[in-house]
Amino acid sequence: MSELIYLNGEFIPQENACVSVMDRGFLFGDGVYEVIPAYAGQPFRLREHLRRLDASLEGIRMSPPLDEDQWRDILQRLLAQRGDADQQIYLQITRGAYGKRLHTIPEDINPTVMAFATELARRDPELVKQGMSVITLDDIRWDRCNIKAITLLANILSQQQARDEGAQEAILVRDGQANEGTASNLFIVKDNLIITPPKSRHLLPGITRDLVLELARDAGLPYAEASISVEELEAAEEIWITSSTKEVMPVTRLNGHPVDNGHPGPMWEKMDALYAACKARLRLRSSSPED
Ligand code: PDD
Repeated sequence: MSELIYLNGEFIPQENACVSVMDRGFLFGDGVYEVIPAYAGQPFRLREHLRRLDASLEGIRMSPPLDEDQWRDILQRLLAQRGDADQQIYLQITRGAYGKRLHTIPEDINPTVMAFATELARRDPELVKQGMSVITLDDIRWDRCNIKAITLLANILSQQQARDEGAQEAILVRDGQANEGTASNLFIVKDNLIITPPKSRHLLPGITRDLVLELARDAGLPYAEASISVEELEAAEEIWITSSTKEVMPVTRLNGHPVDNGHPGPMWEKMDALYAACKARLRLRSSSPED
């Protein structure tokens, strides 16, 4: 049987799931999304992802169409199709379809709510061992990067430029400050201190970012939320990027130059192990949903 996706209250085979061309997600990129990893069939940090989803919705003047229990039921059903496999959920809410293409927000409109599960894109073990190459680019995005909007053209163009230059990610710079990647948050290690930029309108409040800070705190590793200038990035002992699918990745080349000695650093090794242990605890608990 073909894969089912959730669309507006129904579970439908993917090839039959259709959205109107008048949907404002299609016409304007008027919507928000989440990417949620699931280990052994259990969504990871679901509550945090749903809280951020609600904040994104509020940021674009929409109200949450579903509550946490409703989402849990939907995601469990989607994930059950692959049993205990590691997966990722993509969910998207757009403002919905309307009869006219209007730049204002119509009042009488129903959201389009969609979610599907796919296999979790595995981290490339070779890349984890070697570390990633990144370049810095001017941040050409808007001023509400804290909203997880589906409008990702600036991210896509920047990511493609990184690929064209032989790198795997671009670190986006605004007013001399390195804020985050095109699809990841940024950390450096400086004088043995783990540093990530504070939350602001210039970066997404990453769920993995918060978890890394939590793990650092619990393990007694020194950390700070502080802005990172391009000069500090260039002088960093270690650079990491984080996301729900990449977890904590070491960066060993910046703009074609090695980061420190060009190998993943000792602090990254500690953090990667702490992250792996956290996932392992979730697998152990997999008989009851994560809270
Ligand atoms: N992206 N910053 C940006 C711009 C992102 O798109 C993402 C995630 C992150 C990391 O957030 P989190 O730790 O919550 O995954 C930071 C997802 C994975 C994506 O667009 O596919």
